[in-house]
Amino acid sequence: MARQQQFIDEIKELNYQREIMTAKKKLYYLATFGCQMNEHDSEKLAGMLAEMGYAETDNMNGSDLIIYNTCCVRENAELKVYGHLGPLKHLKKENPDLVIAVCGCMMQQPEVVEHIKKTYRHVDLIFGTHNLYKFPELLYNAMGSQSTVIDVWDCEGQIAENVAIVRKDGVKAWVTVMYGCNNFCSYCIVPYVRGRERSRTMDNILEEVRMLGCQGFKEITLLGQNVNSYGKDIGDGTSFAGLIREVNKVPEIERIRFTTSHPKDLSDELIYAIRDCEKVCEHLHLPFQAGSTRILKMMNRKYTKEDYINLASKIKENIPDITLTTDIIVGFPGETEEDFLDTLDILEKVRFDNAFTFLYSKRTGTPAAKMEQQVPEEVKKDRFQRLLATQNRISKELNDMFLGKVVEVLVEGVSKTNDEILTGRTRGNKVVNFKGDSTLIGQLVNVKIDTVKTWSLEGNVVK
Ligand code: SAH
Ligand code: SF4
Ligand code: F3S
Repeated sequence: MARQQQFIDEIKELNYQREIMTAKKKLYYLATFGCQMNEHDSEKLAGMLAEMGYAETDNMNGSDLIIYNTCCVRENAELKVYGHLGPLKHLKKENPDLVIAVCGCMMQQPEVVEHIKKTYRHVDLIFGTHNLYKFPELLYNAMGSQSTVIDVWDCEGQIAENVAIVRKDGVKAWVTVMYGCNNFCSYCIVPYVRGRERSRTMDNILEEVRMLGCQGFKEITLLGQNVNSYGKDIGDGTSFAGLIREVNKVPEIERIRFTTSHPKDLSDELIYAIRDCEKVCEHLHLPFQAGSTRILKMMNRKYTKEDYINLASKIKENIPDITLTTDIIVGFPGETEEDFLDTLDILEKVRFDNAFTFLYSKRTGTPAAKMEQQVPEEVKKDRFQRLLATQNRISKELNDMFLGKVVEVLVEGVSKTNDEILTGRTRGNKVVNFKGDSTLIGQLVNVKIDTVKTWSLEGNVVK
């Protein structure tokens, strides 16, 4: 880290000199694709950039640095990035000093790096997920180089603590508890691009949460691809349930969330910890991916349809007002109509508040990509529509039960479409929109629900 500080200082000095001459701060444009992990990595890039004297802009014309932080979980995520990279060529022509950088999960695939090198020669810097903390050094090198600077690591290396972070939100903050994934679900590229599971120490996590509390953050979300296996690699009995019991003691924090949980690792201790800890919100995101036990086996998920349904019942018995959400993939290779009906059956039996549904996307390098009987696109799309219709009906039915009820809302901000409307979430993660003024942002208020939609609730503040 000391080495990176030197590069931060060097760039800061260069930027300062230029600022004096032009009376203009250097600007960066940063676009992020993918999950909360990537969003949070972008907050780290923003933190390092602020230290180097850059200011953010949402207009890429006129910026001095453009960064794409990429995702490769599905093919369309990758296609989007390529779609953006092409047109940057003319910006580079207009301003040869412009630095174009691409980083993130997509860059961990050698064939992607090759493709970018060949097709998008105007890209100046390519780096991966494991060496994000080296960004100041890499940027410094790219600023002084005619050719593309490429630094992508195969292996994860040590966790870099103390990277500066500029958070997008003033009320809610993300805290990474572990990096990587060991599960190798057969469709998924994440373990290949994010490496093996590495847990941060409990001390480092708690120190960060305490600092966030002091800075005025009210809600934290603990992040990991599979938070339930937090601590297993530390090997001294450290567990996720133990961690959230400690985080629950941090005074200024009002709400604690976490994501994502893998059904095979969700322990009874964790269910009890959610039940017992007053700050831990009653919301569990528990992807089931597919309903059919046969498909689950091919997906390498290590639970059956019955296991999942039983687990959901156990959770509901212990935490009656829990909000359950999930991820589902349709059209995994070999999925028959009968298999798909098992997926619909889980929806009807568990009744999730919300489901994120995806069309299976073939990812080169994963075992599922080599499986025969890939499902035709039109069959996938038909199943997807039926899944959506079923879930939308259930989401609305569950939301209807809130009509006339008073819910506790953490006010997050002003609505994007109407500045007289505030928006926030219940403990169960339901979006609530209501009239109020911006002084309420960051506070907990009680709202009586008078209108119910599929994706949100509306109401008025009550005392
Ligand atoms: N670690 C988390 C999230 C992984 S990525 C978890 O295990 O739940 C988020 C979601 O993307 C996954 O839950 C899965 O539903 C979906 N996904 C992953 N790979 C995919 C693929 N090849 N095609 C379609 N959806 C995929
Ligand atoms: Fe991918 Fe499975 Fe790991 Fe989630 S648990 S990141 S779906 S391999
Ligand atoms: Fe995408 Fe990487 Fe997240 S592949 S879903 S950004 S871990």
